[in-house]
Amino acid sequence: MAATIIDGRKIASEIQKNILDEITTLHNTHQTIPQITTIIIGNDPAATLYLRLRDSACKTVGIRSQHIELPMTVSEKTVLDTIHDLNINPDIHGIFLQFPIPKNLFPERLMNAIDPKKDVEGFHPLNMGRILIGDEHLVPCTPLAVLTILEHEHFGVKGKDVVVVNHSTVVGKPLTALLLNRNATVSICHVYTKHLKQYTSNADVLITAAGVPKLITTDHVKEGAFVIDVGIIQTKDGVCGDVDFQTVKEKAGKLTPVPGGVGPVTIACSLQNMMKTYRSCTST
Ligand SMILES: NC(=O)c1ccc[n+]([C@@H]2O[C@H](COP(=O)([O-])OP(=O)(O)OC[C@H]3O[C@@H](n4cnc5c(N)ncnc54)[C@H](OP(=O)(O)O)[C@@H]3O)[C@@H](O)[C@H]2O)c1
Repeated sequence: MAATIIDGRKIASEIQKNILDEITTLHNTHQTIPQITTIIIGNDPAATLYLRLRDSACKTVGIRSQHIELPMTVSEKTVLDTIHDLNINPDIHGIFLQFPIPKNLFPERLMNAIDPKKDVEGFHPLNMGRILIGDEHLVPCTPLAVLTILEHEHFGVKGKDVVVVNHSTVVGKPLTALLLNRNATVSICHVYTKHLKQYTSNADVLITAAGVPKLITTDHVKEGAFVIDVGIIQTKDGVCGDVDFQTVKEKAGKLTPVPGGVGPVTIACSLQNMMKTYRSCTST
């Protein structure tokens, strides 16, 4: 039987509607709205697209979003000073550091400098560490989007075999901790995994974020599995994910498409994090 295709845009618009209502109330009662700042270093085209989509979502719900653009040649000191100024500015409720950043800058040092209360991406070591001890406060947006999709489909992962194909700091590592917090049995695969199929074909839930088109074919998927495709790859024929969508949709139970799956939910989750940092900064 063909899989149920998950409509990420619909999930995202439900989340945005709730945020819009909350901001309208905030505006009416406190005359304030959340304001976030993104630090952009250089001009990576993929980052520019993501920023455009996120800014448009901010505008829809009424969050004020501004950018600080720095050149590729910027020094670490200038970036740290910029972060410090934003940390102490009471009118700024959330800070994004847009990746990728130039190779001469150390991401850990920059992320560490952001006030954890204003860490919209949830990448500050303190917020990452909190996830590991089960205290989920600011959770990175893409893992949060995966959990949101599972919850939206009323799919509990407790006791389920879940395979994550990705071990990056942005996706796989925090997602694995979040799934373990929910008592899933999690396997993490990556480029050095010897027999990828052996893992994925036994998974009740398969979450893939390799960035490799058609990495996941029907042979990789258990009949009826929940397949979540996080990959976003720009090809000459348009955007696709890791999953061979046309064939896998005949075998999976549920499947997220690319585009229109995890991507829009990630942006909506980013708005949710902005509301969290706003509440932390203003105690509302
Ligand atoms: N939908 C969204 O909202 C969203 C958000 C963020 C990222 N993404 C997309 O998700 C993908 C991953 O992003 P990322 O930032 O996490 O990238 P990344 O740091 O390059 O991570 C890719 C991961 O996939 C693994 N991998 C690559 N090729 C593989 C293969 N052939 N077999 C098994 N594992 C393989 C890598 O293993 P090694 O580290 O060992 O090489 C790594 O763990 C990209 O397509 C990105 O555009 C989507």
